[in-house]
Amino acid sequence: MKNLFLVTAFACLSILQANANEQKIIRISTDNTDLILQVAENGRLYQSYLGEKLLHENDLKNLPWDIHAGSDGSVTRRGWEVYSGSGNEEYFEPAIALTHNDGNPSTYLYYVSSSTQAVEGGTQTTINLRDDKYPVDVTLYYVAYPKENVIKTWSEIKHQEKKPVILSKYASTMLYFNRTKYYLTEFSSDWAKEMQMSSQQLQPGKKILDTKLGSRAAMHIQPFFEIGLDQPVNEHQGEVIMGTIGWTGNFRFTFEVDNVGNLRIIPAINPYASAYELKPDEVFTTPEFIFTLSNEGTGSGSRNLHEWARNYQLKDGKGNRLTLLNNWENTGFNFNQEILADLMTEAKHLGVDMFLLDDGWFGNKYPRKDDHAGLGDWEVTHDKLPGGIKALTDAAKEAGVKFGIWIEPEMVNPKSELFEKHPDWAIHYPNREMYFYRNQLVLDLSNPKVQDYVYQVVDNILSENPEVAYFKWDCNSPITNIYSPYLKDKQGNLYIDHVRGVYNVMKRVKENYPNVPMMLCSGGGARCDYEALKYFTEFWCSDNTDPVERIFIQWGFSQFFPSKAMCAHVTSWNRNTSIKFRTDVASMCKLGFDIGLKELSQDELKYCQDAVANWKKFQSAIMEGTQYRLVSPYESNHMAVNYVSKDKKQAILFAYDIHPRYQEKLMAVKIQGLDPNAMYKVEEINLMPNTNASLRNNGKIFSGDYLMKVGLDVFGFGQTQSHVISIIAQ
Ligand code: DGJ
Repeated sequence: MKNLFLVTAFACLSILQANANEQKIIRISTDNTDLILQVAENGRLYQSYLGEKLLHENDLKNLPWDIHAGSDGSVTRRGWEVYSGSGNEEYFEPAIALTHNDGNPSTYLYYVSSSTQAVEGGTQTTINLRDDKYPVDVTLYYVAYPKENVIKTWSEIKHQEKKPVILSKYASTMLYFNRTKYYLTEFSSDWAKEMQMSSQQLQPGKKILDTKLGSRAAMHIQPFFEIGLDQPVNEHQGEVIMGTIGWTGNFRFTFEVDNVGNLRIIPAINPYASAYELKPDEVFTTPEFIFTLSNEGTGSGSRNLHEWARNYQLKDGKGNRLTLLNNWENTGFNFNQEILADLMTEAKHLGVDMFLLDDGWFGNKYPRKDDHAGLGDWEVTHDKLPGGIKALTDAAKEAGVKFGIWIEPEMVNPKSELFEKHPDWAIHYPNREMYFYRNQLVLDLSNPKVQDYVYQVVDNILSENPEVAYFKWDCNSPITNIYSPYLKDKQGNLYIDHVRGVYNVMKRVKENYPNVPMMLCSGGGARCDYEALKYFTEFWCSDNTDPVERIFIQWGFSQFFPSKAMCAHVTSWNRNTSIKFRTDVASMCKLGFDIGLKELSQDELKYCQDAVANWKKFQSAIMEGTQYRLVSPYESNHMAVNYVSKDKKQAILFAYDIHPRYQEKLMAVKIQGLDPNAMYKVEEINLMPNTNASLRNNGKIFSGDYLMKVGLDVFGFGQTQSHVISIIAQ
């Protein structure tokens, strides 16, 4: 009897398999990766493969299907549904949950059609799905970038029911893996502690990474992850998926290992307090989820993402970046016209391109003399800066540098004229005492009038002062007192519509001022996702500029971002370290200074001037080239990274001794990415005046092959020492 049951089940399975194989196959491929989707005989869409690219098209129809025989002999499909709906036969976490007008909470999505079209850098696949019982449509989008081996995917949800439906889950996508083990690396954060990497093996059940802070959303957890497939994440080898969501608000990554040890990954907006009321015909667009699958560890995955970001996502991804002198760490709020003019002259003397004026330049009734007042009143404080912004841009011109300015336009201090005039523009409860973060409130960007106001902050400055060459756009507070006076009975839409409002403003700024570079900042690095970075050329990694901490923070961010997106400034944090060490650490990214240059000795200043000149000389490697992380600070007492220009003619190696142990074994550092047959002159640069190079064989010529296989002895036993090596093809 038991045998008869098995034979029958097997026969049914075979029939199902045969039918399924005749169904439509959708192939989404880069040069290295295949994501294969297939319409099953039940008319629904399943993932049949995600992994290394398959060589033979013919094999696609033979990909295994996850079909289970029920214990009663029936055959059911419990495969990997691509956009699984809540309330269907699926036992695990769904992509979409929606309550229809009649109160029914189920969604079954059936394949309708699909198409492909060429888009910048790749191919976009569009797949239309529809519920068979309710007028609900979901469109899935995938853009595959073949050369960069990156896939970007998002979805759209809409309906034609009579009244709004309530959306309570809205994933960007779902991806599945069938491996022996999964190791997650996450990036936890806090103020001055951004991008701390930690890893763990995923166990059955769910691991969730999410935030509900609204505006300074990534303060405690960053929207990035890496998963080592079968083995822990490794820099140089092994399969790894590296993913990130482009959403400048509450996000949620769900990693669920099911009963048979398969993993599903669900990147989404966090549905926390966000039961979203979606009107008929309104389109709910989910954020883009961006991922790369590397077979050679995270090093290669990062290079994919760096290349992709510069080519297609980052604002002015291929353009130059400005070196700068900022005044925040130096003067804080205490400055006037003369002090600033003086700093501009210093900036010129240092050799940087721009002076950046930070917080504290605005507010009259409530002058911004500390962080308790003035936010929202974007008029120059007359008694502090009587000549206005005009006098500042004039002074910058005279000094021979550009002028940039800090704003925090999404926020308001209750002590401000803006709040006095428009209390209903701030997010806060009508009937409770307010609580604050940094003495401020978040403006309600779900309100179009507020969007206009925020846009005008930038527009007014630029139309009155076209010489302003740069913005640092800050965002210091999470959303507190989460209630929108504007949305009234649709509070479930607030977290989401607020972020969409922020994008409306950023879009307008970019459309009208496409050539103004902008730094994204959020009380350090709490906002640096790839959607916001469509509108920003770079971001501030952290207020922590202690070079030792920065080595770790920058190592973390470099997993996902090219160095031209990452701002690093030389400051007075950790005065126990030399100015050389601080500058050499900042030189790995977009270099800037935020330090009183008068406190430097002659030699230190000369060293800084040379370092700026060297950084500019090596821009084509550091900013535009390929990055190789060589020695991890997480695994040793040192760190090393090298950059190689696209033509392989120029490379630069940064090596740091953090806190080496007494007589510990020092290994040579093997450079990567050189032309093995080219000859390279190797020279230590960024030396303090009157000091000799510590590099053995300084000035000698080696083949690329030698440098990559034998390497250079650059590490030493000193505490917080650094070595910068120029590698130039002869
Ligand atoms: C937080 C930023 O991270 C700092 O760099 C500085 O701009 C302050 N805000 C100013 O309030």
